[in-house]
Formats: sequence, C-alpha cells, structure tokens
Amino acid sequence: MMAAVSGSGCVTVILLSCVLGSQALDLLRITGAPGSREPPSTPTVQCWCANYPNETFCAWSEPSVPPSTHYVATYRERHRENSTEHCLLIPPHSPSSPQISASFSTSEQIWLCHLPNLKLFTDYIINITAVHSGSSSYMTSFMLEDIVKPDPPVDVRVSPQNGNILVQWSPPLTWKNLDIFPLQYYIVYQWENKGTPKSVSLGPSENTSVELKGLCPGRTYLFQVCAQDLLGLGECSDWSSPVNITMSKTKP
Ligand SMILES: *[C@@H]1O[C@H](CO)[C@@H](O)[C@H](O)[C@H]1NC(C)=O
Ligand SMILES: *[C@@H]1O[C@H](CO)[C@@H](O)[C@H](O)[C@H]1NC(C)=O
Ligand SMILES: *[C@@H]1O[C@H](CO)[C@@H](O)[C@H](O)[C@H]1NC(C)=O
Ligand SMILES: *[C@@H]1O[C@H](CO)[C@@H](O)[C@H](O)[C@H]1NC(C)=O
Ligand SMILES: *[C@@H]1O[C@H](CO)[C@@H](O)[C@H](O)[C@H]1NC(C)=O
Repeated sequence: MMAAVSGSGCVTVILLSCVLGSQALDLLRITGAPGSREPPSTPTVQCWCANYPNETFCAWSEPSVPPSTHYVATYRERHRENSTEHCLLIPPHSPSSPQISASFSTSEQIWLCHLPNLKLFTDYIINITAVHSGSSSYMTSFMLEDIVKPDPPVDVRVSPQNGNILVQWSPPLTWKNLDIFPLQYYIVYQWENKGTPKSVSLGPSENTSVELKGLCPGRTYLFQVCAQDLLGLGECSDWSSPVNITMSKTKP
C-alpha cells in the first residue's frame, strides 16, 4: 500500500509493506526538504542477526540523490517509548564491516549500524535518518527471532568416497553460540541433462556432511549449503559459493 500526500512546500510519502514470511511490517516515512516537490530516493533498511542473540546489524545503501551529510540511527523497544538508544554507525568499506547479504549489489555503498544486545521476543523499531538539505527517516520494525539469518556455511568440500560422493562443510564462524543454538543445514545440488538444468534439495539435517549415492558417471555436479537456526527461527543463510565435482567415467 502506498500513499502520497503533497502539503505546502513539503512532500510526505508513507509506504507500508508487509514482508511475507517474517510478517515484519516496514514503515517508511520520507519528508522532503521544504520547497522541494520531489521526494528523495527511498532506500530500504534491512536488518539481520547472524549470531543469535548477539550482533544484529541493519544495512541500507547510500542514496545517490540527494547526497547525505550524515545519518542519525536510533532504535527502541516498540512498547517503551523512553528506551531510545543510538546504534553504532559503520560507514561503507569499513574494516569492521560484517559479511553483507547477497541481496545488496556489490556496487552499492552500504551503511551499517550495529545493535549489540537486543532482548529476546521483543518488538523493536529502528529509525534511520539521512540528513541532507532536509532529512529523510527510514523506519523498520522487527523482532529478533524473525530476522535471524546466519552467514553461509564455510569450507564446503566434495570428495569421492567408495563410488559415492561425500559433501562436508563447517558451520559459519560468526555463529558463536552453536552449543546453545545449534544449526541445521539444507543442501542443494545441480547439474545439466542435455542442456536442461536439474537440481535436488536435501535437508534439513543437523549433520555437517552427507553421502550421496547414484550420481551419474561423467556428469558435473554443483553443491551448495545453507545454514538455519535449528528451531527454524528466521531464514536460511545465503547459499555457500558453489563447489563442483565431475564424476569419473569409469566405475571404481
Ligand atoms: C550475548 O547476548 C547475551 C544475551 O543478550 C548476553 O548476556 C551476552 O553477554 C552477549 N554476549 C556477547 C559476547 O556479547
Ligand atoms: C521508562 O518508562 C518506564 C515506565 O513507562 C519507567 O518504569 C522507566 O523507569 C523509564 N526509564 C527511563 C530510563 O526513563
Ligand atoms: C527519527 O529520528 C529523527 C532524528 O533523530 C527524529 O527527528 C524523528 O522524530 C524520529 N522519528 C520518529 C518517528 O521517532
Ligand atoms: C553424518 O553423516 C555421515 C556421512 O554421511 C555419517 O557417517 C554419520 O553417521 C552421520 N551422523 C549422524 C549423527 O547422522
Ligand atoms: C568447477 O570448478 C572449477 C574450479 O573451481 C571452475 O573453474 C569451473 O568453471 C567449475 N565448473 C562448473 C561447471 O561450474
């Protein structure tokens, strides 16, 4: 749903969108500079937690117009109006940047803010204000449990084993509380059959390896793995980079 209201010397756009799956409600409010008729560009704020329940980050890409002079980023519990705190801003290309979701393109200038220790099962509202000739506030709300998204599994290895294929991987190093919050994994493997792409998905499994039988001699298979919290909180990580293996033509 989108509504645009033009007042005297000020443009207000209110955008309400429901994110399917996580049920999160995004509320975006933009106020144009006095006298300007064009609303500034409208980046969206994406929040995720790659190390439940610590280390939540929100990210947005720097709008090209109008150039912002600085940002003010605050967050609070939805039901405690006086709980507002500043989150720690991390500028684009900073060495302390965490791994950023694949949904941002590499050409974008990504700003981040770090929300250290959020409470469990609590609604939060985050307010990112870009200050330029006027100011634009981008608001989003979430509950930590809905935005859990680990980083992809690492060190994915594929090797032949007794005529079968053994796929192994390690949990993402950034998921620090593995003992308390174990992960589960999904595996996808892809190949081409006479030019037609085929794929098989497996999981969820808590195992960090899987043995596959009955793969075709001479064919090349691509393997990827994603990691999700074992209780199914949030979503699966981005897929790991593909690792491939070509089956030997002769049976061992
Ligand atoms: C992680 O979060 C928990 C609960 O919010 C907190 O008690 C703990 O100190 C945090 N750990 C780190 C390393 O920040
Ligand atoms: C915030 O408000 C609550 C009640 O609404 C009160 O109990 C609490 O002390 C206040 N906290 C601060 C930091 O003002
Ligand atoms: C968002 O933050 C800006 C800058 O701190 C503030 O002026 C504005 O009132 C805030 N908006 C809401 C809805 O709290
Ligand atoms: C995990 O997978 C390996 C290889 O397929 C298998 O040997 C092992 O028994 C499995 N472990 C569990 C706990 O399922
Ligand atoms: C398989 O992996 C090799 C080395 O990583 C790469 O050069 C090749 O293009 C890959 N093949 C396919 C079909 O993706």
